[in-house]
Amino acid sequence: MLISNMCKTSKKAIVLVGFMGAGKSTVGRALANLSGLPLVDLDALIVQLQGRTIPAIFAEQGEATFRRYETEALRSLNDASPIILAMGGGIVGRQENWQLMRRLGAVIYLRANWDTLRARLAGSTGRPLAPADRTEADVKSLWQQRVPLYEQADLIVDTDGREVDEVAREIFRRAKD
Ligand code: S3P
Repeated sequence: MLISNMCKTSKKAIVLVGFMGAGKSTVGRALANLSGLPLVDLDALIVQLQGRTIPAIFAEQGEATFRRYETEALRSLNDASPIILAMGGGIVGRQENWQLMRRLGAVIYLRANWDTLRARLAGSTGRPLAPADRTEADVKSLWQQRVPLYEQADLIVDTDGREVDEVAREIFRRAKD
């Protein structure tokens, strides 16, 4: 059915990008259910490879090292097997990562407006760059800087006020075209 059509194209994976709180992991799980493909969460892979949590990496080794781990983890993924891939919100900052993501498949930007993101991030823990650890103005400014980067994605899918399953179905339908 649908997924076999998608696999006939050169775009094997569905790669989800977007700001913190955009729903990459949640939509990724729904897409994995819909497609039968495995979900790979890049942050979880980094934690596994490094044997430390994301906050510990930021605190002990710094953001620059975390960004290096992100690229290494991305490079370690095999481009032969189709997967659903949920990325951390900052993956879009390095041009090298775009080449690696595009090699894997179709890059989808889960777009949400600032009010949606702010509400979803309220009370969030375990995110060194989110409001618990920084001012809202700082986080909003980071989001504004990143929007043009996210917009380099192959597809843009809006998530404001929408159910997770509806978003997942739209991605699934559009990614196979
Ligand atoms: C980050 C987002 C986080 C995680 C790390 C840095 C960012 O992932 O990779 O804390 O720079 O936006 P989520 O987008 O899944 O929260």
